[in-house]
Parts: sequence; structure tokens; C-alpha cells
Amino acid sequence: MTKIAVSILTIQGRLIDIIKKLEQTDADYFHIDIMDGKFVPNRSFTFGEIKKLSKYTTKKLDVHLMVDNPIKYIEDYATLDVEYITIHYEINKDLTSIINKIKDCGIRCGLSIKPKTSIHKIVPYLAKIDLILLMSVNPGRGGQEFLSSTVDRIKALKEIITKHGYNTVIEVDGGINDETAKLCIEAGADILVSGSYVLSDNDYQTKINQLKNN
Ligand code: DX5
Ligand code: ZN
Repeated sequence: MTKIAVSILTIQGRLIDIIKKLEQTDADYFHIDIMDGKFVPNRSFTFGEIKKLSKYTTKKLDVHLMVDNPIKYIEDYATLDVEYITIHYEINKDLTSIINKIKDCGIRCGLSIKPKTSIHKIVPYLAKIDLILLMSVNPGRGGQEFLSSTVDRIKALKEIITKHGYNTVIEVDGGINDETAKLCIEAGADILVSGSYVLSDNDYQTKINQLKNN
């Protein structure tokens, strides 16, 4: 069964009230987009803000670090109830040591790639990581249109993962709605991130059902 990680990036206003409402749905995770204003132009939440929000949910957090220097964020986020901490392939750092650091904290590790990065670049890391976060938009903001080239990237990655017998989970992030969710699930995605689609209507559960029951 496909899992849904709800991105809170595009929530405006009463964040805690919306978190409490999402808590009542069967969404699997809260997807937390952390942006440093360097790896991507925008900034998003501070750790203090996320720590406060985390008190209102029993769902695990799926932390997506769109930051140049993830090391300094890992120890903080590892203190919360986190399922995955995901870093970006494109940060020009020693990825293996960062992956090890996440795992040493007892947290599952994800590696994300932007739409223009070849999926073959992450093959050497597949045995070490728990999740691949395939960006289906350019990282930086919510509400963008799904890039259709993602579907073939999911299929190719799924084939590589199956061929090697890895357990790596494929998560897709950006522009997910009922139609693009169907394409991603058919191609082999395990987790879908959705922000604007789920939040576009007051009835969050119906939207989540529409993503899951494709
Ligand atoms: C984009 C973020 C996404 C985004 C998803 O950089 O990583 O998680 O918030 O939002 P939607 O579902 O609106 O594309
Ligand atoms: Zn994200």
C-alpha cells in the first residue's frame, strides 16, 4: 500500500490547527521541508518551530533537508520522532560520512536527487540508504507542476533496486495530485509527498484517499 507524507510547507496561517486536523487522518508521515536559503533560494522552518509542531502529532516525521550543510541539522532532528532524514546528492560533500552520521543516530537515511540529476549517480549509495527521494519538481517551493519525465525515472530506479535485491523505498516529491499519483504508483513509487493537493480542500481525508486508492 502506498504511503502518504503530507508536506506542511504551503500551509499558511494556523499551522498548529491544521496539524491537529491532519493528525486525525490516516496520512502516514508529516513531510518536513527544511530550506537554508543557500541550497535553494528560500528559507522555511527553524528547528524550534518544528520541535513545537511535533508535540501535536504522533505521526513520524519525514525530514527533507534542502540544505548545503546537513551535518549541523542531524543531531537536532534525531531528537524528534523521525522516520527518515533525507539529504541531497547535489551538495558537494562527503555523502558517505553524512549517511553514516544519520544511521549512527538510529534514523533511516534518504538520498534525494533533483530532476536533472541522473539516477545512475545514486546507484553506488543504494546499498547504504533506506530511501530515494525523487524530486518531481525543482526543489524550493510547493505548488509546482509535476515533471512527467519522473515516471520513467521511477521505473528505471525500481528496476535497479529489484535487480540488486535492495529494500530501498522510492518516494516522489512535488506536484502530486490524483492523476500524477496514479502514474507514480503504477511506476513503482512507495511513498508520495503531497502538499498543495491534500491541503486544497478542507476534507483532507478524502484527498488522501484519492491519492491512495488510485
Ligand atoms: C519542494 C518540496 C515539496 C513540496 C511539495 O521543494 O520539497 O515537499 O512542498 O508540495 P506540492 O505537493 O505542493 O508540490
Ligand atoms: Zn520535500
